[in-house]
Order: sequence, then C-alpha cells, then structure tokens
Amino acid sequence: MGVYGEHVLPRIINAGCNMKSNRPQRQRVCDGLAGDVVEIGFGSGLNVPFYPASVTHVAAVEPADVGWKLAGKRIAQSSVPIERSGLDGQALPFPDDRFDAALSTWTMCTIPDIDAALGELRRVLKPGGTLHFVEHGLAPDEGVCRWQHRVEPVQKRLFGGCHLTRPIADTLTRAGFTITELDTYYDDGAPKIFGAMSLGIAQSP
Ligand SMILES: C[S@@+](CC[C@H](N)C(=O)[O-])C[C@H]1O[C@@H](n2cnc3c(N)ncnc32)[C@H](O)[C@@H]1O
Repeated sequence: MGVYGEHVLPRIINAGCNMKSNRPQRQRVCDGLAGDVVEIGFGSGLNVPFYPASVTHVAAVEPADVGWKLAGKRIAQSSVPIERSGLDGQALPFPDDRFDAALSTWTMCTIPDIDAALGELRRVLKPGGTLHFVEHGLAPDEGVCRWQHRVEPVQKRLFGGCHLTRPIADTLTRAGFTITELDTYYDDGAPKIFGAMSLGIAQSP
C-alpha cells in the first residue's frame, strides 16, 4: 500500500471524516441499531460515541492499522464491547446469520468490489437484519454527475480508491436488500460532487 496509504491517508480520513457536519448524520444513522452489530470500514471509530445503549457488541472490520490505533481512545471510553474482528468487507470471517445489524458510513465508496461486500453482509446478517448506511455517491443532477465522472480518477488516486459515482440505492437493491428508509440530500458542508448523500436502512431478506 505504501507510506501514503498506510500512514498518511488514515490520518487524513480521521480528520476529514470528523467534520462537525458529519456528527448529526452519524447520530441519525446509528439510531435504532441494536444487538450484535458488524461495522465495515470502521476507520478511526468516529461512530463509536453514537452507538445506542441497545448495541451489545460491535465487530469492527477495518484494514488500516493506523485507523484502528487512532480509534483507541474512543473504544476505551465506550461502554459497548468493540473488537477488531476482520480486515476486509469483501471476505468476512463470520458464520452465516450471525449479526442483528450492520453499519457502513462513507465506506461503500472505497471497497473495491462493493457487490462482494454487500453479498457478505447479507450472508452474515440474520434474516430480516438491517444495514444502516450513510454514503456519498452518484448525484441526482446531471450537471453534478458529469463533474463527478471527471473528478473521480483523481479522487480515487488521492483517497484510497474512493469512487464518486456509485449509485448507492441501486447497488443495495441489486445486492438483494430492501430499502426501508432512505433520505437523499446534498451535505451542506461539502461541494455537491462529494456531498450527494444517501442515508437510510436496508433490510436483508
Ligand atoms: C472514508 S473512510 C470512512 C471511515 C469511517 N466509516 C467513518 O465514517 O469515519 C473509508 C474506510 O473504509 C476502509 N476500507 C477500505 N477498504 C476496505 C475493505 N475492503 N473492507 C473494509 N473497509 C475498507 C478504509 O480503510 C477506511 O477506514
């Protein structure tokens, strides 16, 4: 991965994803989580302060060692037991039907094979289990989309493979999830090409 990907990028993500405008979104997406939860792309644990008391355990899946290290203080302060349990959302080391819920925040843009990762989430979620998500992706406006396609190659290089043009709701539906709640909006804190958000809940069959 190199020094940039291993050491610099996780620190940039820790700072960039900790923007004030993200916090209400983290609060919303974590609302209603309960039981045994798998979080893919755990990063530096920025969702940890928002886990509701109904969460009994979190299995964190995160490839970046530096991200996990930066999460240390948040994990230590949490009353929820959190374990780093996997490194790759595309190949989860868990049995079928294990989890009550899953969480993904600004991660579906980065996982190289997102269909494989969603297939894995479906496999490890109990029937009826829910995936709570907030993700940036393809904008609803054509003019913005055009710019997203132009900027995406640079974005991918600078930010560890982060895509700007993934159609989040369609990707979840194609993976067999049923979207039960969805809010799409532009984040006030970001230019539209980076800030076309989808926040909601998708249910595994
Ligand atoms: C933009 S960051 C978001 C981090 C965190 N979810 C947050 O909201 O602050 C994307 C995260 O996905 C992680 N990631 C990249 N490839 C992954 C993979 N194959 N499986 C799981 N996580 C991955 C990155 O290391 C990074 O921590």
